[in-house]
Amino acid sequence: MKLWGGRFKEKIAEDMEIFNSSINVDIRLLPYDIEASLAHAKGLKKAKIITDEEFEQIERALREIKEEKFEEIPMVEDVHTLVEQMLVEKIGDVGKKIHTARSRNDQIATDERLYLRNEILKIIDLLGQLNAVLLELSKKHKNKIMPGYTHMQRAQPITFSHHLLAYMEMFKRDIERLKDSLKRVNVLVLGSGALAGTSYDIDRMYVASLLDFKEVSLNSIDGVSDRDFIIEFLSLASLIMMHLSRFSEEVVLWSTQEFNFVELSDQYSTGSSIMPQKKNPDSVELIRGKTGRVYGNLFALLTTMKGLPLAYNKDMQEDKEPLFDTVDTLKGCLKVFIGLLGTIRVNEKKMEEAVKFGYLNATDLADYLVKKGIPFRTAHDIVGKLVAYAITKNVSLEELNISEFRNFCQLIDEDVYEFLDLKNILKRRKTIGAARWEEDV
Ligand code: ARG
Repeated sequence: MKLWGGRFKEKIAEDMEIFNSSINVDIRLLPYDIEASLAHAKGLKKAKIITDEEFEQIERALREIKEEKFEEIPMVEDVHTLVEQMLVEKIGDVGKKIHTARSRNDQIATDERLYLRNEILKIIDLLGQLNAVLLELSKKHKNKIMPGYTHMQRAQPITFSHHLLAYMEMFKRDIERLKDSLKRVNVLVLGSGALAGTSYDIDRMYVASLLDFKEVSLNSIDGVSDRDFIIEFLSLASLIMMHLSRFSEEVVLWSTQEFNFVELSDQYSTGSSIMPQKKNPDSVELIRGKTGRVYGNLFALLTTMKGLPLAYNKDMQEDKEPLFDTVDTLKGCLKVFIGLLGTIRVNEKKMEEAVKFGYLNATDLADYLVKKGIPFRTAHDIVGKLVAYAITKNVSLEELNISEFRNFCQLIDEDVYEFLDLKNILKRRKTIGAARWEEDV
């Protein structure tokens, strides 16, 4: 069945039929197409375009279609055609009334909004689970000291928890952004018709309430041609993937023999077909890799949309693959990341050892001199010279004796050793958000 055969004399070319069909992709929208069709039918009933009995037939048939198990996806143009075809097969002419006051243009945008809302809620839930795992891991390794890096050079002592919780902040923002985006997803566009609205007296506010949409779109042309809500989601997904990818990169680095800060569980690693000793962090590498594909999806749709005149154009059928692929990829990455973090082994000793080399307490020594009344820039210079001296002797700052210290600055006393102690450094940090020692409460 076709929804549009009337004005055509020739049959569609076979290649074109296949080329034009989106059913293999948009079949995923079937439950949403049914949900939207049911709400639309209620709107038709309220407007007395169909009778109560006709509505009941439609409702029953739609519910049956929802339960249908397809052995093979029927070769029709798209999911909307499929639902209407099945409806007509079940209830004949009454089924043919469902498309009154509706176009596939407002229908597809509605289906996508229903689908995306549902998926956004699942993704928010996964991000919440990820933050719970992060919190648990940071509690388990509370007050474990590690080097903090800038330029990948050891910089200042921090705690492993503080490092982990930096990611939690990112994911918290991601959750907020997704929640905020729901405002723009939760808009009813049904009633826009093909592009111009409809002369049928459909109560759009009523239909919106049935689908739990908070608003109705205010311009029919925008209603059918807007894909901002998808592009916004793809951007948010790209941001989340960027966060996961940075984290993955760190896990890859930390898993090297050179760092040896963490070890992934066997469950989230794989081996080599030739090198028997290998244990590779494929899970995090794949997440890092899939980030490129999610960015690609964002750019695919931005590029598809950039030259489109108003209103609906068939180019927009191409929005679904990037959307679905992004949802699947993102959810897959989040699930794996939750699993691998939950089973990761942390080498606290290695982390702490690493803090001992690299003069990570040099900034604190400068602060010590500031406390003794020396301006920071001068203190910085003195400590720089002390570090250079310690490097020549191949010792750490705290291994210098007091007379060596005094050769650089007379104001340095015995209390400097207390001051340079790693734990004390963390205990002295005061600002909100600092990497500091967590006292038991
Ligand atoms: N399969 C189409 C899509 O995904 C549905 C809307 C088609 N509208 C049309 N006028 N041909 O965009």
